Amino acid sequence: VVRMRTNIALIGFMGTGKTSVGRVLAVRLKKEFIRTDDLIAESAGKSIPEIFEEDGELRFRELETEVVKRISDKKGMVIDCGGGVILNRINVDNLKKNSRIILLTASPEAILERVLKDAEQRPLLETQDKLERIKQLLSLREPLYKRFADFEIDTSNLDVDQVVDKILEYLKDASV
Ligand code: S3P
Repeated sequence: VVRMRTNIALIGFMGTGKTSVGRVLAVRLKKEFIRTDDLIAESAGKSIPEIFEEDGELRFRELETEVVKRISDKKGMVIDCGGGVILNRINVDNLKKNSRIILLTASPEAILERVLKDAEQRPLLETQDKLERIKQLLSLREPLYKRFADFEIDTSNLDVDQVVDKILEYLKDASV
């Protein structure tokens, strides 16, 4: 039986462009765009920062795992995964069922610049020395991101359309 992985799951650290790239990619592929963070906020009835603050990161991770499990049987979607989704192996196994996993990376400096610019709130980066915190978290997570990715793109010096084009190129080659 040929397994058709019709979803694209975007993984990678905060600020690597998953949301911006995912939206454009979904339009180009005529697929539905979903963000795990949106589904988590919806099911909790509060924002991501509120979940972290009131219920703790552990509760957030539980909700994240439920959401990923719930969407893992769906098809034809571009899934923007929260940066920590790879911390739980169950999430990766669930995503792998129907998704090609594409990793977006960026230098710590590019990540810092982007998270400072965008309006998204990141409870994990609520510290004095954000660059140091980014480097710390990256060094813990990098091996996981790389292990689980089918394809990887360094977005540090690329704009959204260039990243999307690279993904489309990869998909064209991968599907033959
Ligand atoms: C997190 C990343 C966030 C969000 C939450 C935790 C992480 O998503 O899920 O704040 O652990 O890296 P983005 O990667 O979309 O910012």
